[in-house]
Amino acid sequence: MLRIENLNAFYATIPALKGVSIEVSKGEIVSIIGANGAGKSTLLKAITGLIKTQQGSILYKERDIVGLPANKIVGLGICQVPEGRQIFAHLKVQDNIHLGAYLYYRRRNRAEIDRRIEEVYRLFPILGRRAKQVAGTLSGGEQQMLAIARALMGRPELLLLDEPSMGLAPLIVREILSVIKKLNESGTTILLVEQNAKAALNIAKRAFVLETGEIVLEGLAADLLDNPKVKEAYLGG
Ligand SMILES: Nc1ncnc2c1ncn2[C@@H]1O[C@H](COP(=O)(O)OP(=O)(O)OP(=O)(O)O)[C@@H](O)[C@H]1O
Ligand SMILES: [Mg+2]
Repeated sequence: MLRIENLNAFYATIPALKGVSIEVSKGEIVSIIGANGAGKSTLLKAITGLIKTQQGSILYKERDIVGLPANKIVGLGICQVPEGRQIFAHLKVQDNIHLGAYLYYRRRNRAEIDRRIEEVYRLFPILGRRAKQVAGTLSGGEQQMLAIARALMGRPELLLLDEPSMGLAPLIVREILSVIKKLNESGTTILLVEQNAKAALNIAKRAFVLETGEIVLEGLAADLLDNPKVKEAYLGG
């Protein structure tokens, strides 16, 4: 579904991704783990067209999407939940969710929007109960759910998640992961980026390890959980 080949990305002249190649098949959950500054967010931004200076190819359903504007990429079915959630703190929960549906507004497809909203409230009942609450007053876990809900309004076939577990208590992390699993089981392919290696490897089928812009390890997530190098560097020994 997604095949990235030899991707290089730069900030000015400084390389942030060096020859990255990864593949995600339809229906999979694939994780990318890596420390602060490894290039995880850069990789997701390169996929969704938010970073322009790059070389290499990003094939989505066999089509090269490098250079396409970000809204076109969303239209093809790739949506991103950004790092740090980036919700609109002063707007109500329901307005944040509506903003995720802008492509449908452009197509004036009101019925589709209502159907999607119903679906995300079914997935996150807490958001439905808090629809009129100002988003900035939600708890961290609820804000993460809102960020995911907003991305789902774009009806992604491929959902990119940038550190959804960041700053959340273990119980909430488990809840978020179980929603990600549910989404996957209902047909959404997932590319998950995480510093929380344990969570990311537990939920994924396959995973990649990114270090200073390069993929240094890849394999079945279960094998990486057992890998001594991964254990030492990412799982606390
Ligand atoms: N807008 C930018 N301008 C210049 N350098 C940047 C920019 N954004 C990121 N970088 C640099 O690129 C490298 C990779 O950053 P990136 O945000 O992709 O890392 P990350 O793996 O997502 O880290 P974290 O886990 O802290 O979110 C870092 O060295 C960072 O300083
Ligand atoms: Mg990041």
